[in-house]
Amino acid sequence: MSFTLKCLDCGHTTEYYPSSINCPRCNSQWRETEYDYKNIAENFRSQVASRPFDLWRYRELLPIRNPIPSMRLGEGGTPLIQAVNLGMMLGCPNLFIKDERQGPTGSFKDRQASVTIAALKEAGITEMVAASTGNVAIAYSAYASRASIKLWAFVTSLVPAVKMREIALYGSQVIKVTGSYDQVKQMAAEFARQRGLYLDMGARTVTSIEAMKTIAFEIAEQLTSLLGPPTPTNGIQPAWRTPDWYIQAVSGGMGPIGVYKGFHELKEMGLAGRIPALAPIQADGCAPMVDSWKRGLENAEPVSSPKTRIETLATGDPGRSYNILCKYVKETKGVFESVSDEEAYRAMHVLAKMEGVSAEPAAAVAFAGLFKLIRAGVVKPTDTVVINCTGHTMPAEQFVLGENWSRNIVLPPKEETPEDGLLAALNNVAPDRFPRVAIVDDTPEARRLIRRILQSQGNYTISEASNGREGLELIQRELPDLVILDLMMPEMDGFAVIDALRARPETANIPVIVSTAKELTPQEKNLLNGQIQSLMQKGDFLNDEFLEEVRTLIK
Ligand SMILES: Cc1ncc(COP(=O)(O)O)c(C=O)c1O
Ligand SMILES: [Zn+2]
Repeated sequence: MSFTLKCLDCGHTTEYYPSSINCPRCNSQWRETEYDYKNIAENFRSQVASRPFDLWRYRELLPIRNPIPSMRLGEGGTPLIQAVNLGMMLGCPNLFIKDERQGPTGSFKDRQASVTIAALKEAGITEMVAASTGNVAIAYSAYASRASIKLWAFVTSLVPAVKMREIALYGSQVIKVTGSYDQVKQMAAEFARQRGLYLDMGARTVTSIEAMKTIAFEIAEQLTSLLGPPTPTNGIQPAWRTPDWYIQAVSGGMGPIGVYKGFHELKEMGLAGRIPALAPIQADGCAPMVDSWKRGLENAEPVSSPKTRIETLATGDPGRSYNILCKYVKETKGVFESVSDEEAYRAMHVLAKMEGVSAEPAAAVAFAGLFKLIRAGVVKPTDTVVINCTGHTMPAEQFVLGENWSRNIVLPPKEETPEDGLLAALNNVAPDRFPRVAIVDDTPEARRLIRRILQSQGNYTISEASNGREGLELIQRELPDLVILDLMMPEMDGFAVIDALRARPETANIPVIVSTAKELTPQEKNLLNGQIQSLMQKGDFLNDEFLEEVRTLIK
């Protein structure tokens, strides 16, 4: 295994030792690991294919000389999940979620911790310091405990208490600082300096960037097995497919910096044809990178007092990470974008309700960013998009759920509660009759999506028909309170169904929402005029907009 460290400022190369953090020639702390790509490329694919699906499968491209199997916790190798429902709602079918929640401690920071701790163990280091907004310290704590390394975790007092307690559970020393995350980082650095301890330095820690690279390797392998190898360009057929977009929520920016390096190395080795466009997303209340990018600034202007409740993303001063990311974003024709906390919470709901993925607010920021970029036409319907779902849900706070998320039953003592009393109590929770909705659509995925939207946020009795004729029979038989109707269907299309409904008095007044994938001609719009209550374009609505329509039509 051979690798060297190259200084980003003066190009000087040295051997890698975790505790030596400055370039011996120019003192810079910004260095990058380099490998003998040509040599490694010869056998890389076949070696990788024979190993388990975790991040050590790419060990030739990691800066660890002898990884110790007994220190592992199953890091890396997270699933790439197609977001079918979201894709349909947004009109962008090739959406994939890189589910980093499934790491050993529930966030993408497990990669950073596992590789960095392996390097520290190899170097005989037994004590370290890290500043964190929660997940970094949790991940380091888990791996540090296995490697018998003591961790001093500096966290801001705004980190949710459950996260702090988890850090302590692993046996790390938690130091809670009332101050901004940037101040916490400064304190941790000073503490490490005074005691001569190893300090995690975020994106300047070479092992962290190297660890994040493996996300790119996995995505390329997984996309290839899901979608097949890419189409050749200029007669060259790369082995692995890469997406058009890679989207991730950032604070310090380590994720996309590492992922860029990963795709770049694959390109260098001839395994991938191109690097995806990067879209780093931040929270509006702490978006120094996005704001500086939009103003065309060469260096990031720090945010001195972050105003977001998404504390995990509260790096006010990204420093040089901004310059590096800016370069990558420009080169890949990507964008920086920011979203409000509310947009992130909304995305959190959509993701959980539509895809069964419960992400933490920081991770949801990336999804809210995706929604924004699709709406703005930046991400195109035909693009293949990978979104990093960086972390698991923290216990959902009241402000995320809003009011009325549960129904409460208070029962009198057992002896006073006969069987029918229980049933009566249940009746208060769920009355006998819910509004009835008929879905008439010939595409099973569309029926499933609409059913899911309805059942996730309200109580409806839903029936389905898969063509116009069946649909008409269903409506005439059941007289639903609302019909959701597709237009283009075999046998009998939606226009004919509407005509038939309006021709009979018992069905003439049932409200109809047309949901169509087709751009309507002016004549078709005319035909529908006055006949339907609402028109929804498939691929261009979010779940709650749709539900709003339904609610206004069913009293
Ligand atoms: C869940 C989650 N998402 C995103 C981030 C941002 O990561 P970075 O600071 O590396 O940009 C963090 C950082 O801790 C995180 O925990
Ligand atoms: Zn140098």
